[in-house]
Amino acid sequence: EAAEKGGYEHFMLKEIHEQPKAVRDTVMPRLAKDNSSVILDELKWNKEYLESFHKIFIVACGTAYHAGLVGKYYIEKLARIPVELDIASEFRYRNPIVDEHTLVIIVSQSGETSDTLAALKETKRLGGKTLAITNVVGSSIARDADEVIYTWAGPEIAVASTKAYTTQLVTMFLLAMYMAGIKKTIAPERTKDLLTQLRALPDQISRTLEDTEPIKTFAKQYGFNEDVFFIGRSLDYNVALEGSLKLKEISYIHAEAYAAGELKHGTLALIVKGVPVIALATQKSVYEKTISNIKEIKARDAVVIGIAAETDNELIKYVDHVIKVPATDELLIPLLTVVPLQMLAYYAAITRGCDVDKPRNLAKSVTVE
Ligand code: G6P
Repeated sequence: EAAEKGGYEHFMLKEIHEQPKAVRDTVMPRLAKDNSSVILDELKWNKEYLESFHKIFIVACGTAYHAGLVGKYYIEKLARIPVELDIASEFRYRNPIVDEHTLVIIVSQSGETSDTLAALKETKRLGGKTLAITNVVGSSIARDADEVIYTWAGPEIAVASTKAYTTQLVTMFLLAMYMAGIKKTIAPERTKDLLTQLRALPDQISRTLEDTEPIKTFAKQYGFNEDVFFIGRSLDYNVALEGSLKLKEISYIHAEAYAAGELKHGTLALIVKGVPVIALATQKSVYEKTISNIKEIKARDAVVIGIAAETDNELIKYVDHVIKVPATDELLIPLLTVVPLQMLAYYAAITRGCDVDKPRNLAKSVTVE
């Protein structure tokens, strides 16, 4: 097993560090050399086929569901098609409105999660079309779906998903760009700009991993707090949800993520002196609003750790510490901001002496209901 860990102490740490390669392997073969378009040879879609869908669902569980949240944002923003997101165990039992004009995108690392597989079967029974995004070639979901896009993350062993998530995000981005290309919803210059930045991401993820000492220090400092909150708006909120899931899964700290604008509707009551709050602030259109929320939190003497792009010199004025990630388009920055959150969860689990790769009560793949 030590050999399989390739010199890392845990599979999770190894898999976090494999993200630049996993993202590169997933993205590069699917980009035109001049960054003018996305090539998804696995799909043979045209305008007529895409327009036959009146509705798209994304259905998944756990971390894959969090990737779906980002996917919804990408497809709606770039391809302007409405997307509904659902947890597989909810979707399968709620008599969803699905017909031949519905596309259901099923996201699953393992391709074996029983609720997700059942959601796929239910879609087919109702006459909908299915597209799987999965990491395991020949898995049940890959075999049953009408079409498949593989993430090329390689085997993921640690229960807490890391490289599967980031490859799901880029796959969602590729898919949304592919749809936008067919529908011509974004200009060629913008396409080129985004795909050029996408190509640079693997190296930027490597840079994010170069210096994680400050995160280790925060984990030691706050690792024994019983509650940690994560806040953000828009894509930052989606990443906050994933960061919070990572932390609770492996360190057993009670972690909650909130849409920053929702704080005043309840959670603010829990923000008291010394409570650590991780605040993501990378999205321009809601930046000022997020800062107002941070001020409300600081007024209650919480400790705020901000996550921002390296070009941001503003956030530090309002928070106690800032963790910076390389600058990229705000659509792609979730691929970078999630990395320090993964590392925070990892070091918090180490600080608390938890079994990082095999957290209590959890399984890598949930094949029973
Ligand atoms: C389990 C794993 C999670 C994973 C979820 C969905 O709960 O512990 O890491 O996100 O299942 O798994 P899937 O293989 O369908 O992506």
